[in-house]
Amino acid sequence: MANASRALFLLVLCIGLSGCQDSGPPPALTAPPEFQVETGTDPHSFAEYEKVRITHLRLDLDADLAARTLTGYAVLELERPEPGFQRLVLDTRDLDIRDINAIQPDGQYLPVSWRFGADQGHLGRPLVIALPAGIEQVRIDYATSPDAFGLQWLDAQQTSSGKPFMFSQSQPHYARTWVPLQDTPAVRYTFDATVRVPSDLMAVMGADGNAFERNETGEYQFTMPQPIPSYLMAIAIGDLEFAEAGPRTGVYAEPDWVERAAAEFGVLEQMLEIGENLYGPYRWGRYDLLVMPPSFPFGGMENPRLSYITPTIIAGDGSLLALVAHELAHSWSGNLVTNAAWRDLWLNEGFTVYFEARIMEALYGAEIRNQLAKLSWDALQDTLATIEQGDRQLVRDLSGQDPEQAFTLVPYVMGGFFMDWLEHRVGREAFDQFLRDYFDHFAFQSLDSEEFRAYLEQQLVAEHPEKLDMAEIDEWLYQPGLPDSAVAIEPKSDAFERVDAARLAWQSGEKRPDALPTETWSVHQWRHFLSGLEGAVDAQGMATLDSAFELSQQQNYEILFLWLMRSIETRYEPGIERLEPFLIEVGRNKFTRPLYAALAETDWGRDWAIEIYQRARPGYHPLTRQASEAALGIDANSGVP
Ligand code: BES
Ligand code: ZN
Repeated sequence: MANASRALFLLVLCIGLSGCQDSGPPPALTAPPEFQVETGTDPHSFAEYEKVRITHLRLDLDADLAARTLTGYAVLELERPEPGFQRLVLDTRDLDIRDINAIQPDGQYLPVSWRFGADQGHLGRPLVIALPAGIEQVRIDYATSPDAFGLQWLDAQQTSSGKPFMFSQSQPHYARTWVPLQDTPAVRYTFDATVRVPSDLMAVMGADGNAFERNETGEYQFTMPQPIPSYLMAIAIGDLEFAEAGPRTGVYAEPDWVERAAAEFGVLEQMLEIGENLYGPYRWGRYDLLVMPPSFPFGGMENPRLSYITPTIIAGDGSLLALVAHELAHSWSGNLVTNAAWRDLWLNEGFTVYFEARIMEALYGAEIRNQLAKLSWDALQDTLATIEQGDRQLVRDLSGQDPEQAFTLVPYVMGGFFMDWLEHRVGREAFDQFLRDYFDHFAFQSLDSEEFRAYLEQQLVAEHPEKLDMAEIDEWLYQPGLPDSAVAIEPKSDAFERVDAARLAWQSGEKRPDALPTETWSVHQWRHFLSGLEGAVDAQGMATLDSAFELSQQQNYEILFLWLMRSIETRYEPGIERLEPFLIEVGRNKFTRPLYAALAETDWGRDWAIEIYQRARPGYHPLTRQASEAALGIDANSGVP
């Protein structure tokens, strides 16, 4: 564009924005933000999405694995419910913005003025862009930071393939660290993407178009024809292979893992069919899993069409597949019908815990489901006893807090028990019908707890006024802790009672451990057994159990984790010896955080734990670093006490 006309355009765009210049590229300004987050909108996003809204995203990115950056552009297609409103505010964190242009209806680029608002910690910085009348597309050229919180970069020495690996984790509000977006679950958009990677690596996304094989060009194309919220944006790059599980299902993993993973996840297609039979069609096309490096901070992440799964659930016997059922269930609860903000997280996670249990019941029977429910119930009681009153509610005010804080057992397990309770009141048939209608009614929408409450009142309560009343429902939603009415659904497990009896028989000296009926125990019975030993065993007892059951050699990570916790508490050396390799290999927060916290509490283990952490840190995800540092009580930057 000629300089004169460029200057003219800038002049026009500068109205209403301070700090514009009349020529040259518009500078990034760091004036304090003068806008306020409006009430009723997501407190964790700067976006003014009632006024301007992203409807489609076009992404074009080059990955540089050595520099640890994604570089390219995002074109945002916009809907403007308030056409006179002339600014677009995006969420960003640590993004290097290089150029912003409006794309005119005739395709011409028009440089626009933009600036950053003040840095607000984990929320990042609002990117304020002048939006001329009539403009419906904006192109932002940018690069990510090597420290982008939502990306983890592993170099060749840190993976099983000996090739680098990169993955994103966008939930709850980290998409803004790799794409400039309206980073709120209230906004949904479709997208397409082109990603270029070195030709010995493959790129995959939570989208349609994942290739079954690497291609020589290193360029991969994706589309997401269904509108999704930003927290479901997902990308990964690595030395990946694919193995089929069924016609619509399969597994991506690094070569070393792919066979074992495919064997472990052989039931994937069946799970998908069970899901459809319960709550209606699977609306996303394919459903694949991506097996992550062990440093993946979570068990699983429900990225659409491609859930990310920790390898720590690959136990060899399918005993930890509840997690896969969980991520699959999110294809309905969460991905299809989405919480409007993180205060409503229980709409995603509570529904999913219930749905997961239904899949597990259909696959493995009511007994296994019941054991899992009992483990959850007990864990919830522990959580409720330790967290603050204000955090014990399903619907929780999170303004001013990091949305990470929302992810406790309350929205998950208490939310799941709320669903159990509704089912218990109206009967399974009526409740399933209600849920099927709910998923249909709100498909591809985001809703809040109050919209759900209104729908529940109009549907289920109106149909069953003698079985449900709103006062009881409001107690579940808005009062802290489990309501009294929850007694009706407290899980009771004979299998666990037999485990307790066996433990007592051993502890009272009545039976030796090798005389206990453990051959028939499920992994969950073992988990219950080891949880029951908290505060009730010493190092000598640990040694006796170890010689009978070789627990220090455990390969099942759920069992091993509990064994390591008991080992720390009792200072049982053979268990403690496994800690360092475990903490160096595994970055799954569910395991690492309690292990570090337990070590930090001992009079002998804290300094050692800090040393382990410093060795492990380069292989940890930013989230695991953050959580481990908090558990150890060390300064984030110095890594010293
Ligand atoms: N959506 C979550 C993953 C997540 C958790 C993202 C916290 C951001 C913050 C996923 O669906 C999940 O809940 N995973 C659980 C497993 C599940 C079986 C409870 C996990 O990772 O442990
Ligand atoms: Zn979940």
